[in-house]
Amino acid sequence: MATDAQIEAFHRDGFLALERLIDQEEVARLREIYDRLFASRVGYEKGDRFDLAGTDEADQEALPQLLGPSNYAPELKDGPTYAAVDALVKQLLGPTAWSGGDHAILKPARHGSETPWHQDEAYWDPSLDYTSVSVWIPLQDATPENGCLCFVPGSHRLEVMEHRSIGGDRRIHGLEAVLPDVSRAVACPIPAGGCTVHLSRTLHYAGPNRTDHPRRALIIGGGVEATKRTDNRRFPWNEAKETARQARADDSASRD
Ligand code: NI
Repeated sequence: MATDAQIEAFHRDGFLALERLIDQEEVARLREIYDRLFASRVGYEKGDRFDLAGTDEADQEALPQLLGPSNYAPELKDGPTYAAVDALVKQLLGPTAWSGGDHAILKPARHGSETPWHQDEAYWDPSLDYTSVSVWIPLQDATPENGCLCFVPGSHRLEVMEHRSIGGDRRIHGLEAVLPDVSRAVACPIPAGGCTVHLSRTLHYAGPNRTDHPRRALIIGGGVEATKRTDNRRFPWNEAKETARQARADDSASRD
């Protein structure tokens, strides 16, 4: 799927863009399921559906996100996409790598807000060391106008930088890196059914959606098993959060 030169570039730069992972028939199939999931607001009560870039008031979502879309629509896995991602992840990280966890981020037409610069690992458990990737699959062309991903080459070699909730507002789930150097950033426009892949520390960003059409992205994670760190690393930006999403998740769990 990826050529030797692409695999080498991935390990050098910390990201890779592929023009084609799945065909247009599969894109159309996924898009129909995707739009149904977001229209129905499934996952809201459990805290799986929320506004990544806002305070999570239902009537004005800036950047709707759904965790685990295949938990709500198992038919997402009926087509070739998840197997293609698994093969790609094994190609990049070796045969012991797995893939599976998914989420979906929708940038609504005209007002879908930017996804600020961040490293994915900043969201995760600080006591573990990761070799993990995110495979980002747009279900329409991804362009600079609708919010394609941008990356800083080589940033996967940085430690996890200081992050904070977007705008310093602890009610917001989304994180932003504090003072990232993005002078060498590159945009990665790709066609529908292509994908980008990035490592857990690769700095990335997506601009706002300025077009008349929604920008849909399905993201599938993969990696090798995380290992325990021996230091006492902490991510205080996550400890400080007070989100409506987490309150719903806690409330839902206490009733189960
Ligand atoms: Ni990310």
